[in-house]
Amino acid sequence: MLTRSIPNWEISDSEATPEADFLNRRELCKTIAAGSILTAGSLPLIGAGAASATTPEARSSRLYPAKRNEAYKLDRKVTSEKIATTYNNFYEFGSHKNIWKAAQKLQTRPWTVIIDGMVEKEQKVDIDTLLRSMPLEERLYRHRCVEAWAIAVPWTGFSMKSLLDYARPIAGAKYVVMETFNDKKIAPGQRQIWYPWPYREAITIEEAANELSMIGTGAYGKVMPKQNGAPLRLVVPWKYGFKQIKSIVRFTFTDKRPKSFWEQIQPREYGFWANVNPKVDHPRWSQATEKLLGTGKRVPTQLYNGYAEQVAGLYIEIQKKEKIFF
Ligand code: MTE
Repeated sequence: MLTRSIPNWEISDSEATPEADFLNRRELCKTIAAGSILTAGSLPLIGAGAASATTPEARSSRLYPAKRNEAYKLDRKVTSEKIATTYNNFYEFGSHKNIWKAAQKLQTRPWTVIIDGMVEKEQKVDIDTLLRSMPLEERLYRHRCVEAWAIAVPWTGFSMKSLLDYARPIAGAKYVVMETFNDKKIAPGQRQIWYPWPYREAITIEEAANELSMIGTGAYGKVMPKQNGAPLRLVVPWKYGFKQIKSIVRFTFTDKRPKSFWEQIQPREYGFWANVNPKVDHPRWSQATEKLLGTGKRVPTQLYNGYAEQVAGLYIEIQKKEKIFF
């Protein structure tokens, strides 16, 4: 079971330009012409511009673009929208990068978010009510996958701090556990029973309260594409991408550290903390450098993905206490 479920993530340099494939506009056009992307009531593949103005999804598209928070600068160019929205990891829709078409089956309305566990009051909230309560802003963030590829994305969303204020965890709560939808009918990957569905991830309350932690609701000035984790995904740019859980339906506050999805599958390869670190190699490949998608360049990996100033302080005590820290 373990062998079958180890992610097929290692990518060689010879595979460095699948971009040529996934950027193949002709194929995209053919697919659109064949009508397999746009189904009644669903959004177009990228962005929400053309959605019918009467659907809740389309109404929420009016929230974009949100004002950019200029405090967050990049040391590299923003990755093209085409690449960031067609080269994805979303195992619910397949264990390859080209899941964007399959992900259009995801229905993001109605979408209820459960907030439970160690909170003052457990609640269920409709996505549009939640979106209306949250201050949306755009931030330019680096994104580093554990597979050693990287992109830079203008995410829109709200700070995790605002979510904590909304959820009101009680004293003693230490972790926020997040869960993705579970629906075999639309997500063929979830029929693969050797994976511990639903996808689950967790961060500490201190990590959630850090200024960098966001819940993403949009990208590139538009509603979050389904393949990138609509309607809500975690954005914690100093951690490897596998922490950044997509299409969240539940936030549970707890005092017990859970095992996250990949940690359950292969704990020696995917640790709980998952902080980007050029000196801690993945057992099967080096993390010293990363491939910047769309540029043909490979650059040195930065500790905490370049966000040490904001987050290094979170780990000083933890590293002393934990025997294994990765
Ligand atoms: N969330 C869910 N629910 N399922 C997944 O398979 N993959 C993770 C993360 N979130 C994943 C997920 C991984 S490995 C990465 S690198 C990022 O999503 C990729 O995000 P992107 O496709 O928007 O670049």
